[in-house]
Amino acid sequence: MKVSVFLSIAAATTSALAQYSTTLNNTTPGPDQDGKYEISAEGIRGLFIPYGASVSNLFINDSQGIERDIVLGFDNASYYSVDPQHPHLGSVPGRYANRIKNSTFTIDGVQYKVNANENGGLDTLHGGSDGWDYRNFTVVAHTTDSITFSIVDPDGKEGFPGEVVSYITYTMTKNTWNIKMVALSTTKKTPIMLSSHTYWNLDGFANPDTPTALNHTLHLPHSGQRIGVDNILIPDGTILPNARYSVNDFWSSPKELGANLTAPELKGNCGFNCTGYDNAYLVNRGQDGPYDWRTSGPVATLASPWSGIQVDIFSDQDAFQVYGCGGQNGSLPIKSTQGLDGRNRVVEQYGCIVMEVEDWIDAINHPEWQREKKNIFGPRDPAYVLEAAYVFSANK
Ligand SMILES: *[C@@H]1O[C@H](CO)[C@@H](O)[C@H](O)[C@H]1NC(C)=O
Ligand SMILES: *[C@@H]1O[C@H](CO)[C@@H](O)[C@H](O)[C@H]1NC(C)=O
Ligand SMILES: *[C@@H]1O[C@H](CO)[C@@H](O)[C@H](O)[C@H]1NC(C)=O
Ligand SMILES: *[C@@H]1O[C@H](CO)[C@@H](O)[C@H](O)[C@H]1NC(C)=O
Ligand SMILES: *[C@@H]1O[C@H](CO)[C@@H](O)[C@H](O)[C@H]1NC(C)=O
Ligand SMILES: *[C@@H]1O[C@H](CO)[C@@H](O)[C@H](O)[C@H]1NC(C)=O
Ligand SMILES: *[C@@H]1O[C@H](CO)[C@@H](O)[C@H](O)[C@H]1NC(C)=O
Ligand SMILES: *[C@@H]1O[C@H](CO)[C@@H](O)[C@H](O)[C@H]1NC(C)=O
Ligand SMILES: *[C@@H]1O[C@H](CO)[C@@H](O)[C@H](O)[C@H]1NC(C)=O
Repeated sequence: MKVSVFLSIAAATTSALAQYSTTLNNTTPGPDQDGKYEISAEGIRGLFIPYGASVSNLFINDSQGIERDIVLGFDNASYYSVDPQHPHLGSVPGRYANRIKNSTFTIDGVQYKVNANENGGLDTLHGGSDGWDYRNFTVVAHTTDSITFSIVDPDGKEGFPGEVVSYITYTMTKNTWNIKMVALSTTKKTPIMLSSHTYWNLDGFANPDTPTALNHTLHLPHSGQRIGVDNILIPDGTILPNARYSVNDFWSSPKELGANLTAPELKGNCGFNCTGYDNAYLVNRGQDGPYDWRTSGPVATLASPWSGIQVDIFSDQDAFQVYGCGGQNGSLPIKSTQGLDGRNRVVEQYGCIVMEVEDWIDAINHPEWQREKKNIFGPRDPAYVLEAAYVFSANK
């Protein structure tokens, strides 16, 4: 079956969108018995579900040639919408990822109040209590190596102004998971910020020495700064230095996630009484001049010495959120494709790391950062676009 997909429904945005219209071929059957859609290429195989347009399994061979499933998810698609914790596993949070202070923002002098779903109503997290990753997207194209999901988010949903239409495309090429997200504001100016909220454990939770990711090394070569937050992780407008050798220094050299676990500064670094990481690091390439995000080096590298698996993340986005799973407490299950016989099949504290390519969080409430063009989109503006490539290797 051949399906023409034109990523436009509004005449006003047609010219901006012409470049995204494409012809895709549906050549594969529907989902498997667990409700998952498979795509693959040499060295990589992934399973995806319509709920939140989420990645649910990602298989990479380790340095011994053993397949590891290196992302969190559930064993079947139907469990995602009944799981009481809803940790946004592998999903696309939307229409505005991360937190919105006081669940309000102002556009052209009009103040909007959106669904306040966190901290007892003090703020909005990931687009509200029925944000994009609580909804089933539509599969509009599926081939052996690519899948495209779409969603139409109506005017007024969760309190956001205007309709947004979005297409999320995942494509596998050799050893690489490619992501392209496009979103169109069709009727009114509205905030848009998307991301991929994937939880990683590059050992597939099968490292006999540790169920955690504390021995993974992380390198953020362009991230000498981060966004300052209050104790419920709401940006306070400040931009902070990640001084060399401080707990947030991942730029001067690769560092184990657990290297500074006992440093006093790490306490409270991920919110009130939380020891670890939940920070938006800036990706600052100012000194590089014009650059091509595909070829001018990764924004992040994560590697595990046990499995030998490494991922280099290339992206066009200007911030990079890291959550070190300090809030996990052994209540979330791992999948049947993960873990080790004889060990609890759960995610322990620090068992994973979430890495989110995105823009500067809550920039809609910080006009002084001057990022409106990357955070507020109207029908006459260019489409919102996020691109990333996750390139895998296994060190022998
Ligand atoms: C779809 O099939 C046509 C004809 O076989 C081909 O030219 C085109 O490249 C295919 N598109 C994709 C995205 O694979
Ligand atoms: C892992 O290696 C095996 C044996 O070579 C191969 O059949 C399999 O497709 C590989 N897995 C992935 C995800 O590439
Ligand atoms: C789906 O997965 C969940 C979580 O692993 C499990 O509790 C449930 O029994 C599964 N349901 C089916 C129909 O397999
Ligand atoms: C999403 O689809 C799954 C089947 O894959 C279904 O079990 C679930 O009820 C749907 N959830 C919503 C919120 O529509
Ligand atoms: C906080 O939200 C309320 C509406 O719930 C609004 O009246 C108030 O102006 C907002 N405060 C700030 C500082 O934006
Ligand atoms: C693993 O991490 C722990 C805690 O950070 C550290 O004490 C230990 O030396 C690390 N082990 C290896 C093999 O790097
Ligand atoms: C954090 O760990 C690194 C690597 O072991 C070390 O060089 C640095 O001094 C530590 N920083 C603090 C504040 O403990
Ligand atoms: C802070 O965290 C510790 C350890 O997780 C816990 O025992 C303690 O009750 C917490 N304190 C508060 C005030 O929440
Ligand atoms: C563990 O975390 C979950 C999700 O945040 C929470 O619902 C649960 O109460 C916690 N359990 C314990 C024993 O702290």
